[in-house]
Amino acid sequence: MAIVDNKTPNQLYPLPDGSNNLSDDVLRLQDALGGVDADVKELRDDLDGKAPAEHTHSISDVTNLASALDAKSDKTHQHGINDLSDVNAPASAGGQVLRFNAVTSKWEPSSISADDLTVGTVNIDRLPVNDLMDGGTY
Ligand SMILES: [Fe+2]
Repeated sequence: MAIVDNKTPNQLYPLPDGSNNLSDDVLRLQDALGGVDADVKELRDDLDGKAPAEHTHSISDVTNLASALDAKSDKTHQHGINDLSDVNAPASAGGQVLRFNAVTSKWEPSSISADDLTVGTVNIDRLPVNDLMDGGTY
C-alpha cells in the first residue's frame, strides 16, 4: 500500500495518516520530530544572540558616541553678541545700538544721532532739556 505523504503546512514535516501502516508512520514521526528538534535548536541559538526588546546601553557601548558628545557644547553655554557671525562689535560704548552696515553686511555698534530721525514726529517733552537750553530749536 502506498504511504499517504501528508506534510505540515509550514515546515513540511511528515505527518502520520490513519491509512498508513504504523511502522511507516513511526519512521515519518521520527523524521518530523528530528526536524522539529533541529529547528527549535536553531531558533534558540538565534534567540540567544538577540538583545531583549527592552534594554539599555551605556555611552561607551555606542561607537563614537562619547567623542561625538565631547565635541558638543554644553546646553547651558552662552555667547557674547560678538560671537554671532553677522555682528562686528568687539567693543561698544554705553548707549550704543547695533546698526546694520550694508557695506560689511555686519551689525556694528553705533550711536543714534538726530540725523537718524527721518520720519515721524518727535515729542518735544522727550528731548533732553540741556539741548533746548543751549539754543536748540524746535
Ligand atoms: Fe552655541
